[in-house]
Amino acid sequence: MKNRKHVLVTGGAGYIGAHTVVELLNAGYEVTAIDTLERSEQKIIEGVKTITGKTFGFHKIDCLNKVAMNQLFSTQQFDSVIHFAAYKSVNESVEKPLMYYHNNVGSLITLLEVMKQHKVRDLIFSSSCTVYGQPDRIPVDESAPFKRAESPYGASKQLCERILEDMTTEGIRVVSLRYFNPIGAHPTGLIGELPIGVPNNLVPYVTQTAAGVRAQLTVFGSDYNTPDGSCLRDFIHVCDVASAHVNAIQFLEEQASASVFKTYNLGTGIGVSVLELVKKFIAVTGVPLNYKIGARRPGDVEKVYANPEKIVKELGWRYQYDLGQSLQHAWQWEKKVRGLA
Ligand code: WQD
Repeated sequence: MKNRKHVLVTGGAGYIGAHTVVELLNAGYEVTAIDTLERSEQKIIEGVKTITGKTFGFHKIDCLNKVAMNQLFSTQQFDSVIHFAAYKSVNESVEKPLMYYHNNVGSLITLLEVMKQHKVRDLIFSSSCTVYGQPDRIPVDESAPFKRAESPYGASKQLCERILEDMTTEGIRVVSLRYFNPIGAHPTGLIGELPIGVPNNLVPYVTQTAAGVRAQLTVFGSDYNTPDGSCLRDFIHVCDVASAHVNAIQFLEEQASASVFKTYNLGTGIGVSVLELVKKFIAVTGVPLNYKIGARRPGDVEKVYANPEKIVKELGWRYQYDLGQSLQHAWQWEKKVRGLA
């Protein structure tokens, strides 16, 4: 297709990255993905090609490698960049803060230096609801002030957003998408979150327990100030998170201004507790789940869910999948990975 816009997707073999590459290809974009494959595998790239019936460029590059990034930008013309490449576990960041600051902030700084040098100006940034800390008001909207982040992961995203806001005076145009809790997998069952090591996140731990890979799920705390005592979150299907990135790129393409810095909550607006999710999983899959209540986990925010009005109004995005569908797709992917399907 002539004049296809060319998008660079960093972290393009990752969980949200790969699902976003599917949506970009389906929307007619040319895509180049880069990834270290430290926390993903080449088979995810093949899965994206199978789902879409399209091909795209892939290079094993670390965004921290400025020489490799300059070489990439010298040989290809990108119209925009979507920056996913980062570590994303709240509790791992509590254990390894320096690794998180070095990777998450360092890779963004290197990317911005290279974008500036090669005059690529449009950037969609993978941010997080953890920038709010424990918000005073929920559902939380984008005007909420950044409180002290509960984890180095959240603090790294706060710092990245501040860097991006300051870059608007240097001609970088930014849409920052603040993800809530992405869950699930592509409905085809061909891509999903790859299980590498013991899962930090709730839903992969649930599906691995259901598959017998883990002996028992621990619900981290039931003494929070919530209806059933467990933490409240906003669980959103990964395909809904992915499709919002196409809306965001198209929004930037339509902006005449040289200076853009917009932030959007990317959530359903529905608060669901950990225990409610566990019970919903059992209800939609019919699979019993062995779980117990344990101690609170350091770094956890008690309750957070989105007010998604701004992204609906300004980007014309709406979520499509509900919690039950997200959990069904997550379970379908788990069974596929374990050869149970
Ligand atoms: C959710 C809830 C745990 C595991 C995620 C992403 C982060 C960011 C925000 C995008 C918490 C509880 C978990 C378990 C449990 N999203 N839990 N038992 O911490 O909200 O962060 O959303 O940027 O990148 O990681 O997600 O899935 O780890 O935890 O009880 O075995 O589930 O205590 O209340 P979290 P999570």
